[in-house]
Amino acid sequence: MTNELKGKVNYSVNGNIAILEVDNPPVNPLSSGVRAGLAEYIVKANEDDAIEGIILTGAGRSFIAGADISEFGQKSDGPDLHTTLKDIEFSKKPVLAAINGTALGGGLETALVCNYRMGTNKAIVGLPEVNLGLLPGAGGTQRLPRLIGPSQALKMMIAGTPMSAKKALQQGIIDAISENSLMEDAIAFLQEKIGSSEHPKVRDKNEKVLEARGDENVLAEAKALAAKTRRGQFAPGQIIACVEAAINEDDFDVGMKKESEYFLECLMNPQREAMIHIFFGERAASKISDIPKDTPLLPINSAGIVGSGTMGGGIAMNFANAGIPVLVLDQDEKNLERGMGVIEKNYQMMVDRGRMSQEQKDMVMGLITPTLTYDDLANIDIAVEAVYENLDLKQEIFKKLDTITKEHAILASNTSGLDIDAIAASTSRPGKVVGTHFFSPANVMRLLEVVRGKDSSDETMATVMSLGKKMGKAAVVSLNAPGFIGNRMLAGYTYQANMLLLEGALPNQVDSALESFGMSMGPFRMMDLVGLDLGWRARKLAKMETPLANKISDALCEQDRFGQKTSKGFYNYSEGSRAPNPAPENEAIYKEISEQNKIERREISDQEIVDRCILALVNEGARILEEGVAQRSGDMDIVYINGYGFPIWRGGPMFYANQQGLSEVINKMKDFSALDENFWKPAPMLKWLAEESGTFGEAPAPEERAELLSFRNTNMGGV
Ligand code: 3HC
Repeated sequence: MTNELKGKVNYSVNGNIAILEVDNPPVNPLSSGVRAGLAEYIVKANEDDAIEGIILTGAGRSFIAGADISEFGQKSDGPDLHTTLKDIEFSKKPVLAAINGTALGGGLETALVCNYRMGTNKAIVGLPEVNLGLLPGAGGTQRLPRLIGPSQALKMMIAGTPMSAKKALQQGIIDAISENSLMEDAIAFLQEKIGSSEHPKVRDKNEKVLEARGDENVLAEAKALAAKTRRGQFAPGQIIACVEAAINEDDFDVGMKKESEYFLECLMNPQREAMIHIFFGERAASKISDIPKDTPLLPINSAGIVGSGTMGGGIAMNFANAGIPVLVLDQDEKNLERGMGVIEKNYQMMVDRGRMSQEQKDMVMGLITPTLTYDDLANIDIAVEAVYENLDLKQEIFKKLDTITKEHAILASNTSGLDIDAIAASTSRPGKVVGTHFFSPANVMRLLEVVRGKDSSDETMATVMSLGKKMGKAAVVSLNAPGFIGNRMLAGYTYQANMLLLEGALPNQVDSALESFGMSMGPFRMMDLVGLDLGWRARKLAKMETPLANKISDALCEQDRFGQKTSKGFYNYSEGSRAPNPAPENEAIYKEISEQNKIERREISDQEIVDRCILALVNEGARILEEGVAQRSGDMDIVYINGYGFPIWRGGPMFYANQQGLSEVINKMKDFSALDENFWKPAPMLKWLAEESGTFGEAPAPEERAELLSFRNTNMGGV
């Protein structure tokens, strides 16, 4: 194989069987060299008279993880995937896919052109292209409906979630599971088939698509599912259109042609670029730029959670789900009982919804042990404290944990804003102390901010990041600075929403504008959900004057309008419902407070609402980047998508700003500065990048930022 091409295929012969092994570590995507290898060796095996059957498999832990995502939008050498797959599909000798690990996207599509499919019991199959703003473009939309029926295929492609070998066998995606040696079983299976005069091809199985022809429900259900679960996304509609072709076109190749056209449309759509940015961004976020890749990880085989409230319980579930035994400690027996009850209920809900089997529930519940005594935590590898936000209390707990747990144990605090260094200072092992800011509900939300204290060791950081991955979280490192990344950015966003309300917009208009932009929940619905009374009480306690932006929410609290908890806040809620209804009775308050503060209410456009709220995120994000609190702009995109309901198909706030162009962003801020000069001063990093490169993608690495700051001091009048 030529060296310039990426990846290769190994060719070997076992008796009358040729074995083609895809070798493109770590996950065997179909890069140029792999396609070239498959194309070459399928011909070679067919031309060799001694060969009677062909096995296609993968080296390492993956079968084939799909097309090479890094090639999208780039020029790529090697044969195209369609031609290569056609060569496999029309091989004169039977081909069996021996699925040794993950077969995703183009990987499963490769298996679907083979005559037979066998997986290990750990194999995973799926068509997750929708998560990248794409559709299965190598025949998946035409072959999968023929194999498992259009309804199931649509569900699988719209959800994009992978499936276990056991389920794949039940559905008919694979023909057999190997319980022992995959290669031995695959050879035996194929030897039995070699004598047959015909070998099945998925493209010829028309029964299931013909059954669906004329059944309007199939597509209608898929459309409803896409509208519910993938609001604003382009690819699901394209997937449905492809399956419609699979159902209605008599000629398989016409369906394939349509699939290619619709795939190209996805490829050209900006959503694809945004979602691939998030795919690579999440993987980049898991790396800490100044910590060597080979930093040894500390063993995490057991854990202890201090606090059995909503957060503690959710965090315990994450450990159990990752297969790590976990103790849940609470000093109050009633709290502990209630906390364990909530955990059990959450798992039961998953069983009821078919997301987990009873057997799996029993297994995870068996990993969670309640305790009332600190001494039980003596042998754990990591403790996560999850009590309410009070520095004195947390310090006291850390002191206790420090004396009870073994020297090697990591001590983590689930704080959303307290100073990790101050917590670490109460222990004799500050290097082992770290912040783990889970988002509520912790068993559902993917975001995990890992807060790096000034003394957190490389090993501690690397271990907690790896633990986050094991838990399936999107883990992002934040320096120990007020608000960390997410909440610090959120402050400017909600400030703008509150100011818009004072200037003339209504909550419903602000929420609708931002929800149409793609946010999963507008800011006023969010504030009602969190509770308006939290800030109000804190300000009262601190005898603090209400800032202008909070005057309306504090006035609502004075009337017991705390949000959902009192069934009224910015909106009204009917008993037992979370659906917001407009609250016209509030409008007099809005007007009165605007008047009192000499703010003339005016008509505000939806565009202004979106620009002001989103650009507030961007400007604060630039400051966070400048200070090194976040390692890279993409990290903030990961934070906002996984923790704050930012639409994935827009790629996160910083990517959105890139797409707008940073100069355009600054121009808009200049326009808004007439409203609030101080707020809309562009961050120096933003100005610098707008002039230098135009995007955040070119932000300097943390070690180069000092240079930027000196530039700032000399050239920007010390802004
Ligand atoms: N193309 C290129 N690189 C890929 C890749 C792919 N399809 N899949 C993974 N990688 C890279 C990752 O970027 C990462 O690189 P890094 O080490 O430099 O950060 C490395 O492989 C390892 O990936 P993970 O850290 O994600 O490894 P895991 O073991 O946690 O997960 C996996 C493995 C489940 C295969 C996961 O990587 C994954 O989900 N990959 C994407 C699968 C996918 O979406 N396939 C569809 C592609 S589009 C397609 O096939 C179009 C077709 O229909 C025409």
